[in-house]
Amino acid sequence: MPLRYSHHNGERMRILVVGSGGREHALAWKLSQEAEVVVSPGNALSRRVFASLGPFNEEVVVSGGFDLVVVGPEDPLIDGLADRLRAQGVAVFGPGAAGAQLEGSKAFSKEMMARSGVRTAAHRTFTEFEPALAYGLAQLEQGEGLAVKASGNALGKGVILCRTPDELQDALHGMMVERVLGTAADEVVIEQMLRGYELSLMTLVGDHNMVSLPIARDYKRALDGDRGPNTGGMGTFSTPDWPEAGVLGQVEADLVAPMIAQLQRDGIPFRGTLFTGVMMQDGVPYCLEYNVRFGDPETQSFVRRLGKGFAAALLAAAAGDPIPPIETLDHAVVSVVLASEGYPGAYSKGHPIQIGDLPEGVEVFGAGIGARDGGLVTNGGRVLAVSAVAPTLADARARAYAATESVDFEGKTLRTDIAAN
Ligand code: AMP
Ligand code: GLY
Repeated sequence: MPLRYSHHNGERMRILVVGSGGREHALAWKLSQEAEVVVSPGNALSRRVFASLGPFNEEVVVSGGFDLVVVGPEDPLIDGLADRLRAQGVAVFGPGAAGAQLEGSKAFSKEMMARSGVRTAAHRTFTEFEPALAYGLAQLEQGEGLAVKASGNALGKGVILCRTPDELQDALHGMMVERVLGTAADEVVIEQMLRGYELSLMTLVGDHNMVSLPIARDYKRALDGDRGPNTGGMGTFSTPDWPEAGVLGQVEADLVAPMIAQLQRDGIPFRGTLFTGVMMQDGVPYCLEYNVRFGDPETQSFVRRLGKGFAAALLAAAAGDPIPPIETLDHAVVSVVLASEGYPGAYSKGHPIQIGDLPEGVEVFGAGIGARDGGLVTNGGRVLAVSAVAPTLADARARAYAATESVDFEGKTLRTDIAAN
């Protein structure tokens, strides 16, 4: 069926943003500068600003007559939501199930990296504990350490870094024998540990071209100094001064363009975001992972570095048209996540949230937030992010941390070193 592409010049575009997190709130915030935005379901904070379709329902989405549907989270993409909506004539930003396997299966993703010549850590995939352990022990002798990864989608909790035989044995035993991650660890990837600095590059991909967004740095570990367990992300920054000139072009040439070409050779359509998780080791980019959607909380930072043209770019990608360039802004952004005490482990919910006066240049993007008695209450691990812009990274950081003092709830937890080094 041909795409319903009803947007005409002069008419205000209507966009539906699917998802309930901080990423989706930030996307809605940015897109609403250029379009009418509806969220589904959104969170209690974003629903104060944007109309909501209520709980997500495919029929309601199809009959809503939106010019564009932007799917935020990976799970519905992996599950084929974009294919189903497209089959009914809806313009969707987000890949179909085949392309989403780049995120849905680390084993598939690694195979695609090998076939396209994308540089990544040396690795092997296993389904049985004993051979995995034997391989891992032998590999540990060769290098500094290993990353043990559940192949399936484990919500950011599927990677364990191991430096000793005991750590390796515990990681493999947990995933493959005790099966603490369930079927996400049916296949386990063991790879060499890389060392360097990480960056997140998100690239809009369409049928004709790609357009990269401002690079962001994510802080994945729960505690200051990159200690503690991996989380979905505790804060991000984006600034024109980082990373150094040349890195973007290098990452695009080595890790992004070859994968897009491979998808095309394999006949896998991709209209959405290719998120490349990069480790820069000795000036050389390695692909840690691909995701098939915008990063969270990277989005809370990069949207604030964009000027005009984001809505038009997403629409063009979704419609199969060439993606036009997007204006970028030369200031710095720092976003700090306020989480519930205990996250990424167990935490309590339902604590009232107070948001006071915010410094200039600050936005609050809600995530795990519910409503009760007309007020806001905590309803998830990552509760919200404060995002601050300023001319320099140091000023943006100071503003963001000042803003964290204006937000309060029981159990409020944050890293104090976002954008500090
Ligand atoms: P992934 O889900 O594969 O991106 O892994 C989550 C996090 O684990 C990454 O952002 C890195 O911080 C870390 N990690 C993954 N693979 C490696 C590796 N081979 N070497 C070092 N760190 C890694
Ligand atoms: N913040 C990393 C991610 O969205 O996967």
